[in-house]
Amino acid sequence: MMKTIPVAPFDFMVFGGVGDLSMRKLLPALYFRDRDGQLTPDARILLASRAEQTIAEVIPRVRDAIGRHVAAEFFSEEVWQRFVQRLSYISLEATAERGWDRLAALMADRPEQIRVFYLATAPDLFGEICRNLARHGLITPQARVVLEKPIGRDLASARQINEAVGSVFEEHQIFRIDHYLGKEAVQNLLALRFANSLFETLWSRTAIDHVQITVAETIGVEQRGGYYDKSGALRDMVQNHLLQLLCLVAMDSPSSLDPNDVRDEKLKVLRTLKPITAETVGMATVRGQYRPGAINGASVGGYLDDLGQPASDTETFLALKAEVNTWRWAGVPFYLRTGKRLPERVSEIVIQFRPVALNIFPSEAGLFNPNRLVIRLQPDEGIKLQLVSKDPGPGGLRLRNSALNLSFAEAFKMRFPEAYERLLMDVVRGNATLFMRRDEVEAAWSWVEPILDGWARTGQACRPYTAGTWGPSSAIALIERDGRTWHDEPL
Ligand code: BG6
Repeated sequence: MMKTIPVAPFDFMVFGGVGDLSMRKLLPALYFRDRDGQLTPDARILLASRAEQTIAEVIPRVRDAIGRHVAAEFFSEEVWQRFVQRLSYISLEATAERGWDRLAALMADRPEQIRVFYLATAPDLFGEICRNLARHGLITPQARVVLEKPIGRDLASARQINEAVGSVFEEHQIFRIDHYLGKEAVQNLLALRFANSLFETLWSRTAIDHVQITVAETIGVEQRGGYYDKSGALRDMVQNHLLQLLCLVAMDSPSSLDPNDVRDEKLKVLRTLKPITAETVGMATVRGQYRPGAINGASVGGYLDDLGQPASDTETFLALKAEVNTWRWAGVPFYLRTGKRLPERVSEIVIQFRPVALNIFPSEAGLFNPNRLVIRLQPDEGIKLQLVSKDPGPGGLRLRNSALNLSFAEAFKMRFPEAYERLLMDVVRGNATLFMRRDEVEAAWSWVEPILDGWARTGQACRPYTAGTWGPSSAIALIERDGRTWHDEPL
């Protein structure tokens, strides 16, 4: 078990407390933190939702969720008994008066305690919930609010939310979560880049040919069709997760790990992204939507079947070519790709180095690949550095591609905590390094919005792809046009 230091006592309140995110991610994450001894005996968890029900009715659902999302080997009756004592439930109306006085009374006994208000609701409720928190005197100096994505659906709505939340909470109390930043391998990227001097001199256009960022999922839209159809891959994945990964790869070294130092550097990257406009959107982006197909041998329906609608032009796949307009990165494309119903669940960042300046080896030595650094976020977190070495043995010099492979699971024999575990404790600690600042979210929308406009103006439609394939063939053309290929195979 990991050695953990308990965090300060807290009241952790979840709006949308019996919803999908709470059951699937937040409560299991808090359970694990409890299991590892990180919660003090008096830490409390309050679940709020509209439904009129009692905690006795909610507990079996929480138990069921813990059963499904915590592997049996990590479940213990003793921890569960401790955990369940922390839970309470309150029925309230986010946008009306009902329930708020009762909530205020419930929290009144511990005014000094750290209070986390986690908004796992639709974003159009964020403003009203925050105003209600203020009206009922619940925002103490020790209070923090956590905003789940999506923060808006465009720049104007993101600003509106930020204004509303910012009118009652100070910026340092606002935690805009992007769970990708809590993934072990993503944090490791900071360590890889800034705790090793090896890469820094290579980390630019001089040595790097291009970068690929892939977040591929095998799942479809599942029960989230209602949300997803209004969103699509650009808003759901690229505006936040993929752009955050791009920032961590492209940013300069911050002067410290102070939240603002890190976020200043990420912001600079977002602001230097070359705009994709109606003139360039057709060449720089490929939208796709899955049709029926098969994944791992099992047949699956298409997006429209999952949605239960006859038509939709929402993209479930997106590939794009981004460019960072700085001296470090000029001329180095960043190819981004994400999609649902792809052949495997894999998220990785590939740094492709330039080929050797001159090949001095005879043709009998064989062809060899340029070096490549692969940072694997999931599954099998790790780092691979592809090198070229000599084939062992006598009889001429033949070259072969080989790899230095750091598999985190093999190197560090431990359970890898879920992203939310780290992030929730960071909220309690008040450490915002792995959260997005207001200007970052707005800068990301400023870059994304012209793409949405470009699609609307040029009528760029989704291209179909069969579930279980790597997206529409034009996504392959997007990168092959530049004489490059997607990294789809293991080394
Ligand atoms: C969420 C998206 O933010 O991330 C989902 O809304 C997506 O559509 C999910 O499935 C992917 O997260 P992970 O951690 O499973 O890669």
